[in-house]
Amino acid sequence: MRYHLTTFGCQMNDHDSERMRGLLEGLGYAPVERRDDADLILFNTCTIRGSADERFLGNLGDAKRVKRERPSTVVAVGGCWAQSMKEEVFREFPFVDIAFGPSEVARLGELVARERIEAVGAFSFDGAFSGSLPSRRERPHQAWVQMSVGCNCVCAYCVVPSVRGRERSRPPADVVAEARALAADGVVEITLLGQNVNSYGRDLPREGRETFAGLLRAVAGVEGIARVRYTSPHPKDMKADVIAAMAECPEVCEHLHLPAQSGSTRILKAMRRTYSRDRYLELVGRLRDAIPDLSLTTDLIVGFPGETEEDFADTLSLVEEVGYDGAYTFLYSPRPGTEAAANLPDDVPPEVKRERIGRLIEVTQRTAAARAARFVGTTGEVLVEGPSRTDPTRLRGRLRHNIAVNFTGTAAPGTLVDVVIEGSTSTTLSGRQVGAPVQADLVPA
Ligand code: 5AD
Ligand code: SF4
Repeated sequence: MRYHLTTFGCQMNDHDSERMRGLLEGLGYAPVERRDDADLILFNTCTIRGSADERFLGNLGDAKRVKRERPSTVVAVGGCWAQSMKEEVFREFPFVDIAFGPSEVARLGELVARERIEAVGAFSFDGAFSGSLPSRRERPHQAWVQMSVGCNCVCAYCVVPSVRGRERSRPPADVVAEARALAADGVVEITLLGQNVNSYGRDLPREGRETFAGLLRAVAGVEGIARVRYTSPHPKDMKADVIAAMAECPEVCEHLHLPAQSGSTRILKAMRRTYSRDRYLELVGRLRDAIPDLSLTTDLIVGFPGETEEDFADTLSLVEEVGYDGAYTFLYSPRPGTEAAANLPDDVPPEVKRERIGRLIEVTQRTAAARAARFVGTTGEVLVEGPSRTDPTRLRGRLRHNIAVNFTGTAAPGTLVDVVIEGSTSTTLSGRQVGAPVQADLVPA
């Protein structure tokens, strides 16, 4: 049996897809390149913005064609879009055989085994953490570890709380046990995943409860793990203990993805982000004081309801003031079931949104390019990932600051090597390896 999997959305979905691959390959399915050759066409979907839905629906149309040509093909749709549609999936897209929500990865095997039974909708949020399932990692030396699912925030634009449910933390002992098992399997770098990582643990029973700072320290202490990252924090919950853990644990990398969403206090309030521009900037100041040379990346939304030219100018100036190393920029789109979609008119005209995002991208790229240039002439530690995508005679890896580096060298994937940085763009660095590669398993944890 052969399967074809297409993944949309965030790292949480990328990670769930690794579990889906692990499950399917355990059942004897082999991956194929083309949907036309698959017995099982599987999608792991996202519904964060209107554009995510559109991209997926284009792909689903292709699956419909394959199914028309070969009716024995099974079409399965998992993830957030499926969750947001619930039983509607089967009514609107009758060629879909299996649908399941993001917490139901564990049931995929069972659903596939019962394949072709109509309307096998599995929409409970009580599924196991996918962390306890087998996985087929994309990269042998880097792994995601799920630490929580769901989100208790009430951001007015965001569909996540309604599709992923209330926040549930995974017991700290399970997280650390998975980190240990991964280290034993050759993993050097771990990224902890949660929708709002720093509210971790509040839902756990008092006994055995851990804070996010405590969890970060525990994972950083796992032998063999040289690098720890996490995503994503909410600025409102970024407390002193987490900053101290980042500063004090040498394994925790000097990079933070800290979504700002807007630089206008008025818009932040309408978004229910619960911090002001000033408080965000003050947090950035504390982070930079504690963690020298910290790289910061962010998410920014353009054209939220009521955004004036002045509000938008505040977002542009926030980017300049913080000096982000990178930023993801999004056009606001109303999502069904959110507070903004229900109560706030989508009143920024599309052409104004597009014009603003063009200006924002110009500023974020200029800022990122200026930041990346600071590495030129320095030597940095790179975790080797494999051959460069553009030039297979060179290698590719990442600095602790999470910037990709293409370089000339001979190191094996999974090793940490020193690279002299010789050039930079807004997104990548280039350089050459110095000295002999250090074996990852000899690096002190
Ligand atoms: N419209 C545009 N962008 C959105 N995001 C979340 N919801 C929306 C929406 N309705 C963005 C936020 C979030 C990122 C993952 O997607 O910036 O941090
Ligand atoms: Fe990830 Fe949100 Fe998209 Fe779900 S809807 S895949 S949580 S970005």
